Amino acid sequence: MKQFPTSQVLNNLPKQFFASLVKKVGEYIEAGYDVINLGQGNPDQATPQHIVKKMQEAAADPVNHKYSPFQGHRYLKQAAADFYQREYGVSINPDNEVAVLFGGKAGLVEIPQCLLNPGDTMLVPDPGYPDYLSGVALAKAEMVTMTLSETNHFLPNYSELPSEAIEKAKLMFLNYPNNPTGATATKEFFEETVRIANQHDICVVHDFAYGAIGFDGEKPLSFLQIDGAKEVGIEIYTLSKTYNMAGWRVGFAVGNSSVISAIELIQDHLYCSIFGGIQEAAREALTGPQDCVADLNNLYEKRRNVLIDGLRSMGWDVTAPKGSFFAWLKVPAGLTSTEFADILLEQAHIAVAPGIAFGEQGEGYVRVGLLTSEERLGEAVRRISELEIFKK
Ligand SMILES: Cc1ncc(COP(=O)(O)O)c(C=O)c1O
Repeated sequence: MKQFPTSQVLNNLPKQFFASLVKKVGEYIEAGYDVINLGQGNPDQATPQHIVKKMQEAAADPVNHKYSPFQGHRYLKQAAADFYQREYGVSINPDNEVAVLFGGKAGLVEIPQCLLNPGDTMLVPDPGYPDYLSGVALAKAEMVTMTLSETNHFLPNYSELPSEAIEKAKLMFLNYPNNPTGATATKEFFEETVRIANQHDICVVHDFAYGAIGFDGEKPLSFLQIDGAKEVGIEIYTLSKTYNMAGWRVGFAVGNSSVISAIELIQDHLYCSIFGGIQEAAREALTGPQDCVADLNNLYEKRRNVLIDGLRSMGWDVTAPKGSFFAWLKVPAGLTSTEFADILLEQAHIAVAPGIAFGEQGEGYVRVGLLTSEERLGEAVRRISELEIFKK
């Protein structure tokens, strides 16, 4: 069989870290170990029934068997606008301020190609969601990282960025509630972001994937709630986490109309729009009963408490996440994040993601997903408390 060489663009794509984690965990499961997998970010709950039912009806309707209109159905854009008005008091024009996406990831990977030329500078958080790097590589952009440190509540400190980088930057990605750190943004931080973006002509893309998941009674802020935010950027919203629809692949971008039309243009060339049945179900999710969202938030908060309270009571000084479904835990002194993750897998049969997978500044932490039952999280705490390294 001939082996056709791949293009330079493909050769320059970052390594998909999670593929190797999945493989390693799979080997332990195959060997018969009862692995508690807290390593990935795949929601464990089912999509709410009323959304599934809408999809079943819509799948039977021949209207949805044709190509959907390019750029998506207007009713879904209207639903996204209604959702932003209801949840955040933000007014969005469905006709030019919403782009329908095949999940948030698709939008995040497309945007650098929409706005940057090869060699242009883009600011990306470190630690951060690894798929941001895929978009950087496909656009052949220059990436400058913004450190998220615990001392600054995992928010970038713009005054610490090299002035040349901020001058040159054309695009910035942010993500709160944050993956992997579980931090949330403050109004002041977003206000400063709008100021910086205006001053330096930077387009801000706020990834609001965990927008629905905030703890201790605090609803996470939408970037678009800040005065002037729509002038300088967009927000990416996904139904994957809010409605447990990760497998359905549907989300949307909202905000600055020039960026929205750039996304729609690239998507016109890449795809036809999403299956109409999924678009009807997405409308139902966004505009139908919302008790499921409050229930899900409570479920994650209870799980967070089991994990964090349990680890604290065994003497591990950990920080509680304020949102998202991840806890970001400092590894015991003297170990790298990979060494500690290996110890957890090999000795306690618990899978976690080493912080280094999220960037250099992730070293020294592991990310733990709250994506299993309270009982299993309690069992994870019990197994961790029995490890030799915590007995010293
Ligand atoms: C920070 C962040 N952004 C975006 C996504 C993408 O979600 P989706 O493509 O399912 O909408 C994820 C998924 O894990 C994420 O963690």
